[in-house]
Amino acid sequence: MKIRVFVSLLILLFSILNEPVFAGEVQKGISIVPMPQELSILNGTFELTGKTSIKVGHDLIAKAEQLRAYLSPASGYLLPINKKIAGGNLIELKLLVELSSLGEEGYKLNISNKNVLITAYKPKGIFWGIQSLRQLFPNEILREAQVDGVKWILPCVNITDKPRFSWRGLMIDYSRTFWNKSHSKKYIDAMAYYKMNKLQMHLTDDQGWRLQIDKYPELTEKASKFDTIYHEPKEREGFYTKDDIRELVRYAAARNIDIVPEIEIPGHSSEVQYVFPGLSCIDDTIVIHPDGYGYKVNTRELCVGKEATFEFFKNVLSEVIELFPSRYIHTGGDECSKERWKKCPFDQKRMKDEGLKDENELQSWFVRRIEKFVNSKGRKLIGWDEISQGGLSKSATVMYWRTGNEAIVLGAVKQGNDVVMNPTSHFYFDYPYETIPTQKVYSYEPFSDKLKDVNPEHILGVQSCFWSHIDRTEPRMDRQVFPRIIALAEVGWTESQNRNWDNFSLRLNHQYKSLDMMDIYYMENK
Ligand code: ACM
Repeated sequence: MKIRVFVSLLILLFSILNEPVFAGEVQKGISIVPMPQELSILNGTFELTGKTSIKVGHDLIAKAEQLRAYLSPASGYLLPINKKIAGGNLIELKLLVELSSLGEEGYKLNISNKNVLITAYKPKGIFWGIQSLRQLFPNEILREAQVDGVKWILPCVNITDKPRFSWRGLMIDYSRTFWNKSHSKKYIDAMAYYKMNKLQMHLTDDQGWRLQIDKYPELTEKASKFDTIYHEPKEREGFYTKDDIRELVRYAAARNIDIVPEIEIPGHSSEVQYVFPGLSCIDDTIVIHPDGYGYKVNTRELCVGKEATFEFFKNVLSEVIELFPSRYIHTGGDECSKERWKKCPFDQKRMKDEGLKDENELQSWFVRRIEKFVNSKGRKLIGWDEISQGGLSKSATVMYWRTGNEAIVLGAVKQGNDVVMNPTSHFYFDYPYETIPTQKVYSYEPFSDKLKDVNPEHILGVQSCFWSHIDRTEPRMDRQVFPRIIALAEVGWTESQNRNWDNFSLRLNHQYKSLDMMDIYYMENK
């Protein structure tokens, strides 16, 4: 019996030794995602103990407090934060002007036997350095309650890191399914852990208006609650109050994430016309319902011939801009059918008065007018790639989604516009894994094929969408998003020469355990 056990052990050992050899960092238990730009592994380890303290200058106290809050629940150590500590077991955070070449988000992380040093040009970089540090601990460090019997040991490393792209985003559809504040915070936490920095909140669409607007309380009174004849569960109802949004914006900003609000116009706005029929081309009655399928709920465009529509959205956007500090304000613009405009006397008169040759030019005229207003408030307009139909303004940022229309990206960049890449082919996380497996997300390269000669300065980065008309519960949404979003995070952060699917898959195995600790559901090996 003993000999058999010995032989089995030998076979096991032999098979382990014959595992394909990937980059050393995974072998040594270093599974940081996204992969840093430069990483060297040194001999030795650092141990976090009850005697460790955090050394920090006055300018980084808030980051030190965040670091302590991250480490204390699982370790049980409430690390002291001090400005002057001569030596000992230390984690030091420091801003250095000489690191300006790493930009706002870059950082260095140096771990030796004696201390941990995170340096950066700006606090944002320090925060990303803290995320890499968290990822180097045993993943039990993510637990909310004290974990006994784990040694909090870090490998000694030198890391120099900065993102490839400045836009690394996720769009969540809050209209079709209302996701509450704690769910949003869970996503913000997970996004920060993977160094993503933009959360686009799709707050309005045909199936519901989810943001308090003081001037028009009817929007949320009528378009965030649904007629019981449709048997919608109560949890589909709901909207964000202004206080909720202020809390979320603060929560996200402390984690390097900008919340980009999206108010969808001029298409996908049945809910506005349900509440204010006067903003339609035809003053008729419609019903809205968060389930876009199975009922006669059509997407319909607003009448842009009527001056009242501009007045209304100027008022709405003024409140949105006051509430969200984001540099970018997303105004939708996708899938506007324009069929009603063809028959509407107001829209036809507008086209004639403005010398517009077709309905595409009418949309473009509308978007430009809205953009001027957004710009007058010191913000930039971003919209889905249809905002280029009928002529793109020189200053709007385009969110590219319709795979196969690369000419839009080429044209926009040639004109000097910025573009965010959110193609259906790779980044639509409501699509099944059979269509977009994680490996396909990971394989995305913005400058391949038709876009290889595009000026990279105008490609701000990458973003994924989660449209919520199919998967409408938290576990189902989580499984659609994770682990694909982890692959997207690496596409957005890591230079392409440092990306490797086999290596990523090994690190992903470690990340699955981290997701367990964060109470996030995921699809394993898909
Ligand atoms: C979109 O998926 N309609 C932007």
